[in-house]
Amino acid sequence: MKNAEKKGRFLVFEGIDGSGKSTQIINIKNRILKQGEICFQTCEPSGGPIGSLLRQYLSGRMKADEHTLAALFAADRLDHLLNETDGIYGQLKKGVHVLCDRYFLSNYAYQGATTSLDWVMQLNEAARKTIKPDCHIFIDVEPDIALERVAAGRAHRDLYETKERLSKVRDTYLALIDQLKKEECILVIDGNQPENRVFEDIWEGISQLF
Ligand code: TMP
Repeated sequence: MKNAEKKGRFLVFEGIDGSGKSTQIINIKNRILKQGEICFQTCEPSGGPIGSLLRQYLSGRMKADEHTLAALFAADRLDHLLNETDGIYGQLKKGVHVLCDRYFLSNYAYQGATTSLDWVMQLNEAARKTIKPDCHIFIDVEPDIALERVAAGRAHRDLYETKERLSKVRDTYLALIDQLKKEECILVIDGNQPENRVFEDIWEGISQLF
């Protein structure tokens, strides 16, 4: 467990595709920067070698079964955490705050919904034991609204961007949050509200960390 060496705050943003995570990460980053502190914004799949491979599956350029994808997402997470170039762990150790778009709850919710949740949890144990997020921020949005936002932002849909899949993923997220709320700090935000209200609710929930 490396939590003792961690000096920066580690915030992860979760939600179904189109939930507005990217917008809110920028809003929160700007708010923290205003306090004169340093932030590192990142995402999963990461920009590393395994994350780049995963983007090919998500766009439909390559195909693989769900178990293979589940294992690749977990491997990307460990590399994202521990790689010596720009790994999350190294940033936190330097006192930089890390804002990460998706973390292990995404693996649980997206692949746990179609493979075995226990198995996906085991795949993530190494990452979970390495660093515990200070807070998981789950932005909860209705799948219909999320898909409208996805359609407004780009012409193609990624692998999981169907109403059926996103509804299943959202239900899995909500059940998981209920199950994990004693072990993890998880903030549930109503993402169906206007952007500034969503931001205010998130900041109210995390401002005491800064
Ligand atoms: P995003 O860049 O829009 O967040 O899309 C990333 C996609 O990858 C999204 O559909 C969710 C999916 N994903 C998983 O299925 N499992 C994971 O562990 C992660 C990190 C992402």
